[in-house]
Amino acid sequence: MRHPRLLTPTAARLWLGGLLAIQACSVDRAVTPLERFTPVAVLSADARDLDAMLARDLRANGFTGRVGASLTARLGRPLHGPLADIGRLLFFDVENGLNNDNSCAGCHNPKNGFGDSQSIAIGIQNNGVVGPDRTGPRNQRRTPLLTNIAFLPALMWNSRFHSNSGDPFDHSRGFTFPPPEGASLSYLPHLLDAQAFIPPTERVEMAGFAFPGGNGDIRDEVIRRINAVPGYRVRFGEVYPNIKRGAAVTYDEFAAAIAEFEFTLTFADAPIDAFARGHHAAMTDSEKRGALLFFGRARCVNCHSVRGESNEMFSDFRQHVIGVPQIVPSVSNVTFDGPGANEDFGLAQVTGKESDRYAFRSSPLRNIALQPTFMHNGAFTRLEDAIRHHLDPVKSAMSYSPVTAGVAQDLRGPVGPIRPVLQRLDGRLKSPLTLRDEEFADLVQFVRTGLLDPRARSLASLIPSQVPSGKPVHRFQ
Ligand code: HEC
Ligand code: HEC
Repeated sequence: MRHPRLLTPTAARLWLGGLLAIQACSVDRAVTPLERFTPVAVLSADARDLDAMLARDLRANGFTGRVGASLTARLGRPLHGPLADIGRLLFFDVENGLNNDNSCAGCHNPKNGFGDSQSIAIGIQNNGVVGPDRTGPRNQRRTPLLTNIAFLPALMWNSRFHSNSGDPFDHSRGFTFPPPEGASLSYLPHLLDAQAFIPPTERVEMAGFAFPGGNGDIRDEVIRRINAVPGYRVRFGEVYPNIKRGAAVTYDEFAAAIAEFEFTLTFADAPIDAFARGHHAAMTDSEKRGALLFFGRARCVNCHSVRGESNEMFSDFRQHVIGVPQIVPSVSNVTFDGPGANEDFGLAQVTGKESDRYAFRSSPLRNIALQPTFMHNGAFTRLEDAIRHHLDPVKSAMSYSPVTAGVAQDLRGPVGPIRPVLQRLDGRLKSPLTLRDEEFADLVQFVRTGLLDPRARSLASLIPSQVPSGKPVHRFQ
């Protein structure tokens, strides 16, 4: 992406804004515009004041509540139903996992907004279950949600796949991927078309270790297998006339189908969106008060931003160190970072710079109520804990216990070092933020239900009962 450590003018303004906000609430002095956000004012405001204040904050942040509806305009075409449906079948079919035991859906669970059912993903050699009882060797990170994924300008916890224009719909300046792909996927129309080239080649996720060769060889084999399944040939033939006439399905078409399915996972009509469009009754008073804190005194929006390239996704798509405890699986098929092989260097894995260690992308916050765990490694299992961590990361990290945090049994061993993480803590989180219990409850309420599109709760209907390869579909708990 734009170099993650260089502040653009906007980022610099946000950063400065954050600093000013922190100072303004810690220093006792005469009236400032911020006083309007003080707890007393917010709690005692009558409903109309709340509405007016929130509408003003949303306007000031450029928030329209219309991003979901902009999908087809930004694609420049309507969605293609039959192609998306092929993508859905592929998404659930272990046929494209050369280890024959995992599909995209093995990790991206429809019952969790197409995010993980676990703290840290389990890929190959799993027990066929998707849900709390999934077992097998763990990879390194939690699987993010795929709802609204079409709008993310940078993908992955360290943004290693990104659109150079800052717009996932615009490939004119190319897409950046780590080697061996580099810029070679830039000809594809959307960042998600390009991203679909990667998971089937990941050995710990889907490919396994038996098949020899590089990413290109693995893709050739995946597409050979898809072409050998009559059900896929027929379906692709209905979309692409040349395939009907006998041409082979190409990997580009496979990727287009997956991306088309992902476009259909746009669920960005949460109460906050309806409010922004003028339906003030769509949010509860508690959500409104929480939103005022989020955009105001609690300074969440500094990183979980909505304007410009953020596409109203509640992330600046930059990496920050927020001091998340480093939990370590007892059985993993990925070698963790650091001398003790018990760390995750985050952004530094991409840049190679020591100063980038432990930095992760600000999580896009829409629909996160559907997640069973939080942060890049699922170190927290309660949304309250994930939010409380931000109020005083040092205190939270130093007193962290995987047992009380409620993570799975195999993640309860000794945690990795925390001091080097906290040494790099983002300046904006260094001074603790004090919220009263009611304020904290409002903030959580806003994140939990104010940002949830209710339609995303029930996506289990997208699970196919069978897939064209005839191979078994995972058991979704
Ligand atoms: C083994 C579990 C696993 C499988 C299988 C898997 N993913 Fe993922 N996916 C992940 C994890 C973990 C991440 C984040 C990894 C990181 O940031 O290092 C991710 C990230 C993504 C992202 C970016 C999300 C974001 O918010 O940036 C997309 C898109 C995605 N996967 C799509 C797919 C598709 C499509 C497939 C199947 C072709 C697939 N995944 C298969 C675990 C998996
Ligand atoms: C300095 C930037 C920054 C600020 C300010 C900030 N966050 Fe975060 N937040 C992050 C980053 C980075 C992550 C992901 C960290 C990780 O997983 O290692 C995150 C993760 C989260 C998560 C977990 C999301 C998930 O997918 O697991 C929640 C919830 C959250 N933030 C809410 C908030 C709230 C509420 C506030 C305001 C009190 C806030 N954040 C302020 C940077 C920030």
